Amino acid sequence: MAKLLLPDTENDVTPKALFLNRRTIIKTAGAAMLSSAAPALFANSAAPSWLNKKVQNTVYRSMSTDETLTEQYDATRYNNFYEFGTGKDDPAKYASEFNPYPWEIAVEGECDAPGVISLEDLVTSKALEERILRLRCVEAWSMVIPWTGLELGTLLKRFKPNSRAKYVVFESVVRKEELRGQKDRFSFIDWPYVEGLRIDEAMHPLSFLAVGMYGEALPPQNGAPIRLLVPWKYGFKSAKSIVKIRFVEKEPKTTWNISNPKEYGFYSNVNPNKSHPRWSQATERRIAGNGNIERIPTSMFNGYGEVASLYSDMDLKLFY
Ligand code: MTE
Repeated sequence: MAKLLLPDTENDVTPKALFLNRRTIIKTAGAAMLSSAAPALFANSAAPSWLNKKVQNTVYRSMSTDETLTEQYDATRYNNFYEFGTGKDDPAKYASEFNPYPWEIAVEGECDAPGVISLEDLVTSKALEERILRLRCVEAWSMVIPWTGLELGTLLKRFKPNSRAKYVVFESVVRKEELRGQKDRFSFIDWPYVEGLRIDEAMHPLSFLAVGMYGEALPPQNGAPIRLLVPWKYGFKSAKSIVKIRFVEKEPKTTWNISNPKEYGFYSNVNPNKSHPRWSQATERRIAGNGNIERIPTSMFNGYGEVASLYSDMDLKLFY
């Protein structure tokens, strides 16, 4: 297993050329392990060139790690995106049926400046940065992925949330003709897929909206063109392909919480001390790529301890 350790410290700025060079090393190492029949490493040719260019030209890396990056191949082939089906390979298999462009997000509810924002207005070069983040799924697997995007709070503030805005709701796209999982009459999800955060969680600088990964525009299977990343929470909080953001006063009903409230709480902070009713959360399978899956201990808040103060007065075993 070729390990690529990124020596960067937090707040390091990595020139794009250097980053791309590193990615070439990772890809080359990974490619050697793939059969010659393997599909192309990346399949998002549907993304408009202006978007690919903005992502490719992002040079500011605000968060890094010394952990091994997950192979791009694995991060784009092993997915949870029930709009495409429940199998881990369904999203990549059916990704080409979804054409997200052009795209807009409607922002509404408890705010003084509700409105609709286009992807073009949202994705400005100035706002974009790269963050290498851990993604910990509630199913106890995890990945380390370089994302490109913008701080969620920066976007939210543009719409001037008012004092009744205690929570923020995120709604994913509904397009039955393009998303075959939404046509499944036996699906337990009442579409759209809905997630939510408390307003202080949403405004935390770690909350991120990604439009790219591995230096390219997001592919459909990872939530093109724009998805949430809340890295200290289980992956299902990070809603994909977002079309609506709503400021609300009361804690919203969310997709997984509705489906099974005992198993999936509203908060869903990564917590090794609170088992899922059917499995332990003390460890996780780190999918580092190249066929390397390692069992490692899970860290509180997925290692992002800076969010602890958001919950200082809460018993996180009760508010799971
Ligand atoms: N968002 C939508 N709209 N639909 C989904 O099924 N799955 C969630 C989350 N966001 C999901 C979603 C789950 S369970 C996880 S673990 C992550 O997306 C997976 O993100 P990835 O496929 O990019 O790794």
